[in-house]
Amino acid sequence: MAFGFTSTDFVYLNNSFNPETGRWENSGEFLAGDDPKLMIHYASYGINYGNSIFEGAKAYLGRDGKARLFRIEENAKRFARSAKGIRMPPVPVDMFIEAVTELVKRNRRFIPEFNEDPNQRGALYIRPLLIGEPGLGVNISKKPTFLIFVSPVGPYYATGFKPLKAMTVHHMTRAMPGGHGAHKTGANYVMSMLATAYAKENGCTEALWLDGYRHEFIEELSACNFMCRIEDTLVTPALSDTILAGITRNSILRIAKDLLKMTVVERPVLLEEVLDKADETFGCGTAAVVTPIGTIVAYNGRYTKKVTDDVGELSRELYGRLTGFQWGESEDVFNWVTVLD
Ligand code: PLP
Ligand code: COI
Repeated sequence: MAFGFTSTDFVYLNNSFNPETGRWENSGEFLAGDDPKLMIHYASYGINYGNSIFEGAKAYLGRDGKARLFRIEENAKRFARSAKGIRMPPVPVDMFIEAVTELVKRNRRFIPEFNEDPNQRGALYIRPLLIGEPGLGVNISKKPTFLIFVSPVGPYYATGFKPLKAMTVHHMTRAMPGGHGAHKTGANYVMSMLATAYAKENGCTEALWLDGYRHEFIEELSACNFMCRIEDTLVTPALSDTILAGITRNSILRIAKDLLKMTVVERPVLLEEVLDKADETFGCGTAAVVTPIGTIVAYNGRYTKKVTDDVGELSRELYGRLTGFQWGESEDVFNWVTVLD
């Protein structure tokens, strides 16, 4: 199964935000995917000016037949942060969690079956959105639509759990200080389109973004965070307003520190240092899980750096530990998992 959209029985819709009271007046409704109420208006600020934010989470079906959510409260909190970041009315954390939970339950038959091989497991991807209402001026959205859809998915990168080639795009910038790189707005993703095209035209899968001033420090990939191992230390770029604070990133840092007893360091990470010294490099995110980066290629042709041909030992260990929690194979020692039934 690929990472793509498949429609399911129910979509959640809530149009009840009242700008006068500052409250969502009701808990929304669950509609069939083709219900006309789900049509987005052509004059939506979201479509015209990018007043839209989103989240990405997954529901996992365990060996025991139970559905699980992973750190869903963190998605709810980030959704609220992203909304506030572009001055949209946030969705209360409880309302977000209740809507996601109910939607997953109603679409339960679409959660892919448990597979013994962790690399073959699919999940139900959950995509909450907050989309600006119709209008014309470049205005703040005051009465957005809150919508959630789900789709069964497989691995984000077609290669699955295999090392991919990433391309550094020295002449492009995903996010600048003072901008919205740390908010999950659609606008951050449109920045990736040309970069991804360059990557693909050059036999790579994904762009590896550098800082916007000097293009010397690694920031993240278009759809996941970046990490590397240098000797016995796990290193990842420190969070800033140009990097999305990944929930997977945070989980992996905790697993490495608390369970693997590794030294973990969050700091600026020079590309040069990674090319010289990294023993393993990988991306991590909800969709990407842990995706090894085998080769780093420069867009300007200055270098091609092979880090590894194989999946590194640490990448494999972290993949196993993380997915162990998500599918309920390991004891939930961090209290990260919500069992739905
Ligand atoms: N960075 C970007 C740009 C992303 O799109 C994602 C995916 O959501 C991440 C990082 C990883 O975030 P998370 O682990 O919360 O999915
Ligand atoms: C996620 O991992 O959930 C993402 O949002 C990445 C992507 C599919 C845009």
